[in-house]
Parts: sequence; C-alpha cells; structure tokens
Amino acid sequence: MNVLTPGEPFNVSPDRTTAGGDRPPAVEVLSAEKVFSNGTRGLAPIDLSIADGEFLTLIGPSGCGKSTLLKLIANLIEPSDGRLLWWRGDFAQVGEDGRRFAFVFQEPTLMPWARVDANVRLPLELAGIANAKTAPAVAEAIERVGLSKFARHFPRQLSGGMKMRVSIARALVTNPNLLLMDEPFGALDEFTRNNLDADLIKLWWERKLTTVFVTHSIYEAVFLSTRIIVMAANPGRIFRTMTIDAPQPRDEGFRDSAQFAAYCRELSTWLAEASLPSAPGGAL
Ligand SMILES: Nc1ncnc2c1ncn2[C@@H]1O[C@H](COP(=O)(O)OP(=O)(O)OP(=O)(O)O)[C@@H](O)[C@H]1O
Ligand SMILES: [Mg+2]
Repeated sequence: MNVLTPGEPFNVSPDRTTAGGDRPPAVEVLSAEKVFSNGTRGLAPIDLSIADGEFLTLIGPSGCGKSTLLKLIANLIEPSDGRLLWWRGDFAQVGEDGRRFAFVFQEPTLMPWARVDANVRLPLELAGIANAKTAPAVAEAIERVGLSKFARHFPRQLSGGMKMRVSIARALVTNPNLLLMDEPFGALDEFTRNNLDADLIKLWWERKLTTVFVTHSIYEAVFLSTRIIVMAANPGRIFRTMTIDAPQPRDEGFRDSAQFAAYCRELSTWLAEASLPSAPGGAL
C-alpha cells in the first residue's frame, strides 16, 4: 500500500537521524482488537507504541495475529474496537502531512509483463507523477537494492531473491515513512535471506525508516530488530517483548557473536512458551 499525493516531491523526507527521541511515536495501537465477521477473535485488545525510527519485529506461532496486527497498522483493516494513531494523528492526517506507507508481502507480486523499472515505477505512476519526473527516483531505488544491471529485465528472468529485491525497491521508491513487511523473505533459502537481511538493515540504518517486520525466523528477528514482540494465539495477543541492545550498524560479525546466540536462545524459549495452550492470557 502506498499513499502518495500527486505532484508532491518524493525525495524529501523529514529528518529521521535518531530513533525515538522527542519525536512522537510513529504508531500507537490503543486497545485495538479485531473480531472477524465470522466471529473469530483475531486479536485481543493490543496496546503498543512504535517509536519513530524503530525496527520492530512481530514473531509468534501461526494464527497469533501477526498479519492482522500489521494490517491494522497499515490501515488495511479497521479495529473492531479501540483505535490507532499515526504520528499522533488519525489516518486521514497521514496523507495530509505527506507521510507515506509501503507494504511488502511474502510474495513479490510483480507485474510479469512489465520490466523491473516499470514494476518499481508503479506506485509513482498510480500517484499520477509523470515518468520524466520519476526516472531518477526509480533508478536510485533499483540501485539501492543492487539491481541496476537488471532494470530492463522481466521478472521471469530473475531469481526469487532478485524478485524480492524488486519488491523492496518498489516499496522504497516513494520514500515511505513507515515500511511494513509480512514475512518478505520466508520463501527464500537461508543464504539469500541472510543477504537480504544484511541489505535491509543497512537501508534501515541509512534512512532510519520506521519498520514493522513479521517473521517466523528467530535468527532474522534478532539480527534485524531493535525490539521484538512475541505474540501468542487464541486470542492473538502480545506475550512478551524483547529489546535487542546490540551495537549499530549490525553486520555479519553480530551473527557470530555470543550476544547474538544468547538472544536467540532466549527468544527460542519464549516462543516455545508462547506456543503452549496454557500460555498466560489464552482462552484455555
Ligand atoms: N479475514 C479473516 N476472517 C476470519 N478469520 C481470520 C481472517 N484473517 C485472519 N483470521 C484469523 O485470525 C487469526 C490470526 O490470523 P493472522 O493471519 O493474523 O495470523 P498470523 O500470525 O499472521 O499467522 P501466520 O504465521 O500463519 O501467517 C487466525 O485465527 C486466523 O484464522
Ligand atoms: Mg501471517
């Protein structure tokens, strides 16, 4: 999802050089819950504040409401009760302030008949910005994900990891203020995933782009995040929160560190506890 006002400059963004600080939180989830029309209680009331510039990861067993929470944050669905605020305003205010969201799904969802650059240009085109004006931003986004040589290729000529890079370039081209990613690298082999994780954390660090990321991988969560939320199911809820207090910018050295291993061990234990039917806050 991208929100972009036609004709608005897309290469200018508010200062995001430090995470948190005095700035208002990017997102506040205020006792928001979700009951689906078939009666399924997707999410129990959730309270959560996401700092500007934070890299927040949601992890938890299947069905614990990670995608539902992400969709609420993206305003793709509405809470049944409670509410959300973005930079202390409602969703209408987000567009008025010229702020933008970008959503990356597990599947790259590229247009198969369009070349890489046309795929990346799509959100700008949808916003009514003329091609001549968008060319530098498209080229920069493609370069940022290391695909400059493939700008004129079709998706079928690319590997799964490269297609995912195109999806990320398409998300970045609008210079979003909030990047939402739902298991973006889940279908990729571990080597490719690790490489993309390293690229993603570099991008995040350079731009201090508030990111909410969903994964099933403990290693990925610890490597990327400033904070991890472990969720439990039935009903979907926050089970525990872990702050990853490791030096930035992170590189492969962090993966090899004792600190990384310790965080992974603890997160693994928490996940196992969150997966038990008797986990606190559950329906049983
Ligand atoms: N549109 C819907 N209608 C009814 N129930 C839904 C709908 N979407 C999700 N649910 C239910 O809400 C709960 C949370 O689903 P959600 O997709 O958010 O879980 P998840 O944590 O993302 O799971 P996974 O790890 O499998 O992607 C599940 O019980 C799911 O079946
Ligand atoms: Mg999901």
